[in-house]
Amino acid sequence: MSAASSMFAPTQVPTAPIQAHIEQTIEEVLASFSKPEGLTPEERRGIIARYSAVLEGNFIYWMTGAYIAVRSEQARSIIMDNLHEEVRDAHPLMMRKFAVAAGAVPTDVDFMAMNEQLTHMRLFIGRLSGVPILASMAFFEGLIQKFMAYLAELAALQGSTEMEYTDVHGVCDVAHTAGLYKALQAELELTNMPMPSDAALYEGVNILARTIRRMAAA
Ligand SMILES: [Fe+2]
Repeated sequence: MSAASSMFAPTQVPTAPIQAHIEQTIEEVLASFSKPEGLTPEERRGIIARYSAVLEGNFIYWMTGAYIAVRSEQARSIIMDNLHEEVRDAHPLMMRKFAVAAGAVPTDVDFMAMNEQLTHMRLFIGRLSGVPILASMAFFEGLIQKFMAYLAELAALQGSTEMEYTDVHGVCDVAHTAGLYKALQAELELTNMPMPSDAALYEGVNILARTIRRMAAA
């Protein structure tokens, strides 16, 4: 931050510790994954299918919940840009093409494997608590951007060459993640509330971390 900008933002809430905690959680989740070449074809298919079951129909819904929950103009504008891109560029279609090409369209078994964690996430989002939702979306975008290389490797080992989804999300989610931390900061400053407890602040982060661990469990 420059001296000039700090002069005009005397009440800025430090979000660096929150970002550090979220990044640490992302690293722990990623480190728990099995190496793609050590998995059987069915195990690789299952991971892609469960990821698709989690993402395709839910990401825009979660982000819409974030939009409804936040109160600061800056957070709203950042989330709307994200939603705009998701819908305009039909990211769920990209996800679907990726799963089809890898022979990993989710089955009822794949959907049911993720059902409990998705239910926890839906109920969490439904409480419309802006700051914890923004923390969970920052976690998710940060994780996805690092997860794309792994997902692409799984698909390539399944014989797929359809990589638009992983190519786009390895890049665009870098900007999305940075935007969500800005939104988080704007929201904390606007509400001028005491920082939530760690349990409240990271509730959605922890649900999503469990969701991703479940998804990646062969
Ligand atoms: Fe997307």
